[in-house]
Amino acid sequence: MPYPYQISSFADYEFQYSRSIQDPSAFWSEIAAHFTWCKHWDEVCNWNFTEPKVEWFKGAKLNITENCIDRHLAEKGEQPAIIWEPNNPEERTRIVTYNRLHKRVCQVAQMLKNNGVKKGDRVCIYMGMVPELAYAVLGCARIGAIHSVIFGGFSAQSIADRLDDAQATFIITCDGAYRGNKDIPLKSVIDDALIGNKTVKHVVVFTRTRTPVSMLKHRDLWWEDEMDHAETQIERDGVVSFPAEEMDAEDPLFILYTSGSTGKPKGVVHSIAGYMLWTTYTFVNVFQYTPGEVHFCTADIGWITGHSYIVYGPLCAGATSLMFEGIPTWPDAGRFWDIVDKHKVNILYTAPTAIRSLMGFGEEPLQGKDLSSLRILGTVGEPINEEAWHWYNEKIGKNNCPIVDTWWQTETGGVLISNMAGITPSKPGWATLPLPGVQPLLVDESGNEVMQKDEQGFFKGNLCIKAPWPSTIRTTYGDHERCRTNYFATYPNLYFTGDGALKDEQGNYRITGRVDDVLNVSGHRIGTAEVENAINMHAGVIESAVVGYPHDIKGQGIYAYIIYNHLHLDENLTRLDILQTVTRIIGAIAKPDKIQFVPGLPKTRSGKIMRRILRKIAEGDLSGLGDTSTLLDPAVVEEISKGKL
Ligand code: PRX
Repeated sequence: MPYPYQISSFADYEFQYSRSIQDPSAFWSEIAAHFTWCKHWDEVCNWNFTEPKVEWFKGAKLNITENCIDRHLAEKGEQPAIIWEPNNPEERTRIVTYNRLHKRVCQVAQMLKNNGVKKGDRVCIYMGMVPELAYAVLGCARIGAIHSVIFGGFSAQSIADRLDDAQATFIITCDGAYRGNKDIPLKSVIDDALIGNKTVKHVVVFTRTRTPVSMLKHRDLWWEDEMDHAETQIERDGVVSFPAEEMDAEDPLFILYTSGSTGKPKGVVHSIAGYMLWTTYTFVNVFQYTPGEVHFCTADIGWITGHSYIVYGPLCAGATSLMFEGIPTWPDAGRFWDIVDKHKVNILYTAPTAIRSLMGFGEEPLQGKDLSSLRILGTVGEPINEEAWHWYNEKIGKNNCPIVDTWWQTETGGVLISNMAGITPSKPGWATLPLPGVQPLLVDESGNEVMQKDEQGFFKGNLCIKAPWPSTIRTTYGDHERCRTNYFATYPNLYFTGDGALKDEQGNYRITGRVDDVLNVSGHRIGTAEVENAINMHAGVIESAVVGYPHDIKGQGIYAYIIYNHLHLDENLTRLDILQTVTRIIGAIAKPDKIQFVPGLPKTRSGKIMRRILRKIAEGDLSGLGDTSTLLDPAVVEEISKGKL
């Protein structure tokens, strides 16, 4: 096996799994020995889920960038670390070798230092999918600054909230980003986000689209100037160096905001050593990576999938990671297949929503594309329906590539439940077995383990995890209590995922979806409360309720029921106004697919909105409304049903 900790067979999986549970300290310290440390740990794991406190490799010192870059230089310096495919296929591909990556990351670290950024400072990164985004992330890690990457689809208001929550002092952005035929003005969004901001001292702007941008004296800096200056500082006699900051294993590596069922998005915090181990271990094992192969994860680095399986996991494993700037349907729906053909991609990791959308274009976009380099396929972000699974298997994998269905979350840092390519069996629609170190448990509403099978012969319950794995969420930034109540308080001594799941007799898991008020739209998490808050900001809205409904491509669509105060409204125009408001408050990704104006909402006598009823109506299941007699105004249900869109 190319990696000493790579699992080689089903029997080996069973052996490693049981070792990981019986003696986690021995198991993880053996794996950790294959990484680069400045000082070894005093203790492998110390935890309790009550506070919660989770610490891995306490006492150890390291820098993750030495693991992602420096340690590969001697043998792999001239091998590609990142292959970058631009939005426009006519533009030149960029190949970033490990040597080049090292130099660029050192330059960014120097640039940050030159501008007063220190270990522990928060740096917000709002960029398109360009290699400079990876340099920025790793440059922060090199000096020990905490990065907070914000997806390019979020609005100025969302960015302002995140800057404020993280008390960020520095921003790295682009003038604009190309996505398909659009040119997104990122710097201008940042300018809006900074109105009234008191913490940000500098904004560095990388030139991508050469869109005109406003550059404020003393605050805004050009990336190119700063990097040129840094280059002269880090390079002497042809030798590049910028000393990596020695970090504690438990120092925070990054903050990534994600939606929950209540309030504003939470800043999920991951710490350095545990996250490094878990992303590398899972990358190598789930995808059964062999050095030299090209790994193409189609996610955006603005989401956890991009953090873990474009940047940290692959680079730490010395892999070649393909980064794509554009979208799957531009210039046409064959773009992914062109990229696979052009770069001889071996591993393709994407979301079911992308597969469903591409399926819709039929087989024409596949004509003439050589996909024979593909060895392994993967999915993430939402349950995959069987039709999409079979299409992926037959049309893309030619019945010859194992498909890994990887279940995990922003909070888990890396994959927790998944088959391993060619090692453990796949089962369409099932994430299958837990990885070593992961102890899932299905519980009922009262937190008791589900022991009885349902009528289909499955155990069914809320998915929890019994003990920490190395990249367990450490805290929610600035508010540890929120971390406790969100994940560790629902059931004592368990991490609660917010997902429902089934388990079969062989111990395979099938994730059925969220059991809280969180939607999964195109594989992205959106809190219903967040969308409602945004809708309620619109001047004419009195009250709103948002639920999910099944959507052919997106998995779930957003259905909004709205009480509006002008009766003589032009409904369609008002809908557009409301969409505009949501776009401004959150971003276009949270726009409702359907807006129904209603005279009232079904509420209990204590004023609680009965979302169950609204969900049924949105799904079109009018026979399943159940008993409505306990409602304050049962007649409203009939009126809403009549107006269903
Ligand atoms: O509901 C689960 C779903 O996505 C949620 C996590 O979303 P996020 O933190 O944005 O991370 C997405 C990428 C890791 C989970 O709570 N989910 C993720 N993967 C799967 C999934 N649902 C079913 N099957 C999966 N493979």
